[in-house]
Amino acid sequence: MPDTVSGKRDGDTGAYRVGVVGAGYVGLTSAACLAHLGHRVTCVDVDEPKVQALRGGDVPISEPGLPELVAEGLREGRLSFGSEHAALASADVVLLCVPTPTGPDGDADLGAFDRALTGLHGTLAPGCAVVIKSTVPVGTTERAGRVLGLPAVSNPEFLREGHAVHDFLHPDRIVIGTADGDAADRVWRLYAGLDAPVLHTATASAELAKYASNAFLALKVSYVNVLAELCERSGADIAEVTATMGLDERIGPAFLSPGPGWGGSCLPKDTRALLRAADEAGVDFAVLADAVAANTHQHDRVVTKVREAVTGSAGGSLAGMRLGLLGLTFKAGTDDLRESPALVIAARLAAEGAVLTAYDPGARGTARPEHVQLVDDPGLVAKDAAGIVLLTEWPQFRELDWAQLAELAEQPTVVDCRNLLDPASLTEAGFTYRGLGR
Ligand code: UDX
Repeated sequence: MPDTVSGKRDGDTGAYRVGVVGAGYVGLTSAACLAHLGHRVTCVDVDEPKVQALRGGDVPISEPGLPELVAEGLREGRLSFGSEHAALASADVVLLCVPTPTGPDGDADLGAFDRALTGLHGTLAPGCAVVIKSTVPVGTTERAGRVLGLPAVSNPEFLREGHAVHDFLHPDRIVIGTADGDAADRVWRLYAGLDAPVLHTATASAELAKYASNAFLALKVSYVNVLAELCERSGADIAEVTATMGLDERIGPAFLSPGPGWGGSCLPKDTRALLRAADEAGVDFAVLADAVAANTHQHDRVVTKVREAVTGSAGGSLAGMRLGLLGLTFKAGTDDLRESPALVIAARLAAEGAVLTAYDPGARGTARPEHVQLVDDPGLVAKDAAGIVLLTEWPQFRELDWAQLAELAEQPTVVDCRNLLDPASLTEAGFTYRGLGR
């Protein structure tokens, strides 16, 4: 990076005055981690109750390590919370970390983003660098710069839920998308404390790389989900096939575990937005469209597998059958139900007349998912059940007393949609076991 340094306000500590707009899992994680790195951070959010809670150190999302970093920042006076954009008037760098959910026709809904730009307009100091961390369509960062009359930099985040603090402090890469050398340098220094390759790219490249990365992860999972179906019909074992694949460093072992389909607040949104962007650019991104279709097919496949396991035939009726679900969150290690495949599958099973109970160690007491009766004891999931469906890979499900669950169940059948359990142990416990691709 160029050695010109601009915008340092606090002597030569290299510490910046940082503003963060949005206190969600990206904004709050970014604010707390940047304070931890020595910067002085002010995080603003429109949600007053959330701001008040954060001022008291009460962190509303479950991210390992985040409450401790928020407490540290508050204690050391390097992290503060507010609801007025005016609080960012003296910032050297302002990060936009507002949600960009899926809009009505599949593209990104920039409502919150544009409201943030309006709130910041005329507020920020001349020379302040605006950093777009929200996942936004190509061209949005430059538009933000024009609206604010300031240098705008695309700096996408690659934080996984449940690992956000780790991923922020140990990134695989830092991407800085801008043609403005000074702004690039300032963002580079913002992350000076981190040990990671820094890619300085054009703005559009950084914006597109975020969608491309997430969509590729979705593609990889859809690939392995369809491969699992082929394994079942070929007498192959998906775990053996993916272990073989994963040892090729060009493929890698991660994201080769079959499941009920990929979900969460990012992959579904980002695949839809990328398909929309490709369509608008006249590019037929068929391989991605197929990956999205394969994800919907995976929901169908799981429902059929449950119907076969419970009624004995693919066309059997689930009407009135009690089914127990283990896991509702979109993946283990989070309390997030957003676009969880488990909820899609639960709705499908309920639509066929099944009566559902569900246990999930991450689902907060406040969760009221439709179609299921949430219970706080896995034994209640098995009681009188015609079948148990494991949908989220919580490790503690391996440690359940499956022999006891077999006693409680009316029909000890389990469909393990994460291949989490050991088939031999389940059979020994008295269950008829079905996995994916096994
Ligand atoms: C994702 C990206 O990983 C992250 O880089 C980006 O910043 C935000 O979106 P996240 O949404 O937390 O993170 O979920 P992720 O861990 O990627 O899992 C996505 C979905 O794929 C989950 O439903 C998960 O269960 C599923 N999955 C993942 C599989 O089914 N099999 C796998 O092998 C891996």
